[in-house]
Amino acid sequence: MLVQIAFIALVGVAQCRNKQQPIVLHPEGIEQPPIGFGTWNLKESPDNTTNAVAFAIEKGYKQIDCAAAYGNKEAVGRGIHKGLKKAGLRREDIWVTSKLWNDHHAPDRVEAGLNQTLKDLNLDYLDLYLMHWPVGKGSDDKNYRYDYVESWRAMTELLKTGKVRRIGICNFSPAQLKELVKHSLKGDSPLPAVHQMELHPYLPQAKWIYAHKAHGIAVTAYSPLGNMNPTYGDRSRRLVTTQSKAPLLLENKVIKTIAKERGCTPAQVVLAWGASRGTSVIPKSKHETHIEENLGAIGCQLGTEDLAGIDALGEEPVRFNNPSDGWGVHLFDGLDDA
Ligand SMILES: NC(=O)c1ccc[n+]([C@@H]2O[C@H](COP(=O)([O-])OP(=O)(O)OC[C@H]3O[C@@H](n4cnc5c(N)ncnc54)[C@H](OP(=O)(O)O)[C@@H]3O)[C@@H](O)[C@H]2O)c1
Repeated sequence: MLVQIAFIALVGVAQCRNKQQPIVLHPEGIEQPPIGFGTWNLKESPDNTTNAVAFAIEKGYKQIDCAAAYGNKEAVGRGIHKGLKKAGLRREDIWVTSKLWNDHHAPDRVEAGLNQTLKDLNLDYLDLYLMHWPVGKGSDDKNYRYDYVESWRAMTELLKTGKVRRIGICNFSPAQLKELVKHSLKGDSPLPAVHQMELHPYLPQAKWIYAHKAHGIAVTAYSPLGNMNPTYGDRSRRLVTTQSKAPLLLENKVIKTIAKERGCTPAQVVLAWGASRGTSVIPKSKHETHIEENLGAIGCQLGTEDLAGIDALGEEPVRFNNPSDGWGVHLFDGLDDA
C-alpha cells in the first residue's frame, strides 16, 4: 500500500513539472536562482577554487553556495569578486549562501560565526545564512547537542543587522522542522526561508519536498549529482557491488538513455530533473567543462515519461551524507534511508 501511495504521488509530480521556473521564496517573493554553484571539496588549490568560482559567475551562475566548514572561504570570496568584475556585475546581482558551523551554535557565538564568514568572503551581507546541521558542539562540549532552537533564535536576531537577507536550515528531520514551525506559529521566530538537503534521483524525498511547499519554505538540493561526490566513495562503491541498481548516478543506464534521446548530457538530465521539482540545484565542479555543462541544464527539456523514469530510480532510496554514527547523534529521523 505504501509503495502504491508513493507511486501515485510521484506520478502526480511528473505530470505538472516539466518547466524550470525560478523558485519564489517565502515571504518576500524574491527569486532564488534555480541553478547554483557548490563549493564543498573545491580546494584542489586556492587558485583553482578562485578561478572556478570566477568562471562560474562569468558563465552565468547567479548563486554561490559556501560554508564555514568547507575551509576555502577566502579563495571562494576572491573568486566571487573576480567573477563579478569579469562579468561586469554588482554584488546584488548574485545570491551568496553560507552556513553556520556546529562549533558556533551557542547563541552568543552565532553572530561571531557570521562575522568571520563575511570577513573571509570579503562581503557585507549574505543572501542566505543556513544552520548547517541541527546539532552543535562547542570547544568545551564532549558530545553533540540538539541545540537548534536556541541557535535558530540567535540566527533570527541576525536579520535585524542587515548582514543576512534570509535565514534557513540544512539537514533537519520532520520533528525538528515541526519544532521551528511551532515557535513560528507562536510568533517567536520566523520560519526558515530555505531548507537545504540531500536530494537526487537515488534520494528523491518527494513527500518531504511537498511538506515544505505547504509551509512556503523553499528547498535547495545538495549533492544533486548523487554519488558523484568522491567523499561518498566508500558508500557508493559498496552499492555498486551490492545493489546493481545504484551505479554512479551519471553512469546509470536510465539517465544515459534519456540524455541521448534528449540531446543533453547525463549531468544535465539529472539537474533538469532536480529543477523540475521546484528545487534549486547546486552542483560543484572544479573543471571548466563541467561548470559550463551543468549550467546548460537550464536548456535541457525533459518529458513526463523521462521524469517518471528518473523518479523510479529512487524507489529504494539511498542517503550518502549521514554523519550520525561519527557524531553519536540520530540525524534524519523519520526520513528515507536514515
Ligand atoms: N548543507 C549541506 O550539508 C551540504 C552537504 C553536501 C553538499 N552541500 C552543497 O552542495 C554542493 C553540491 O554537492 P556535492 O559537492 O556534494 O556534490 P555534487 O555537486 O552532486 O557532485 C560533485 C561531484 O560531481 C562531479 N561533477 C560535477 N559536474 C560533473 C559533470 N558535468 N560530469 C561529471 N562529473 C561531474 C564533480 O567532479 P569535478 O569537480 O571533478 O568536476 C564532483 O566530484 C556542495 O558543493 C555544497 O556546496 C551542502
